[in-house]
Amino acid sequence: MATIRFENETVIEENNLDQSLLDIALKHGIPHMHVCGGHARCSTCRVIVCQGADNLLPKNAAEKRLSDSKGLENNIRLACQTRVQGAVTVRRLVLDDQDADLAMQCKQQEGTGREQAVAILFSDIRGFTRFSERHLSYDIIHILNRYFQEMGEVVLANHGYIDKYMGDGLMALFGVDEPDASINCMHAVTAAMQMTEALERVNSYLKKNFNECFEIGIGIHYGQVVLGNIGHREKAQFTAIGDAVNVASRIEGETKRIDSPILVSQCMHAHIQQQVQLGKTLKTGLKGKSGDYLLYEVLGLNIT
Ligand code: FES
Repeated sequence: MATIRFENETVIEENNLDQSLLDIALKHGIPHMHVCGGHARCSTCRVIVCQGADNLLPKNAAEKRLSDSKGLENNIRLACQTRVQGAVTVRRLVLDDQDADLAMQCKQQEGTGREQAVAILFSDIRGFTRFSERHLSYDIIHILNRYFQEMGEVVLANHGYIDKYMGDGLMALFGVDEPDASINCMHAVTAAMQMTEALERVNSYLKKNFNECFEIGIGIHYGQVVLGNIGHREKAQFTAIGDAVNVASRIEGETKRIDSPILVSQCMHAHIQQQVQLGKTLKTGLKGKSGDYLLYEVLGLNIT
């Protein structure tokens, strides 16, 4: 006999363990979604295994095929293919038709969400609002695109992912596909240094044509985030969310206050300290965060 706990729903005691988890759920009156009829084609029967994963038989070939094509994490199982051997706690993930639509669309790993440590870089143009007040809308968009082209090339050249633009701000991630923390942190800080060099190219164009110059601030933090595709199906975007993202953004905000182009967090510092030239160190609170944070100014890279 096995005890199967459907989190937030009910607890089932089941003697016949030759049936699938889906069959057991349906037999006990749980409205378990199964759009393809239990043939490992839709994934709407997916559950997340909260406890007792060892009490489930491994994925069969059909489940493996669909899980791989959908990029489902190991702790997500298809109830129609899963056999229970002992006590287990699961939670249904597809609860209504809208969930079912999303489950059937989502075919990439990014759609399922995953927790991961990455380096998060925020950059911002100081005083851009004043610049935009002085220039024509055509010029503002043109300049921003030229600026983002330069900065984006640097991010990509350093194995980064351009997460989003926020007005004149840029958010980039380093480590989406790479597990080594030190490599990711070095990629991020190298990108930051190269962004300041790329800015000189932008500024020589700006100076010549608009008699203006930009200054930028860059904040970088290394920490755990949740990665996944978020948004309406017509405009979902792979992005990172979580406290670490907010911290990186706040660090970027500090660059202006202490007039330093590049600041990194203590977590970043731990991974890069041997390879960079450091300037000021400051202990400060960050807007919206409790406690003090140690921030480090990066002045350059050590030549090896
Ligand atoms: S019911 Fe369709 S994959 Fe399980």
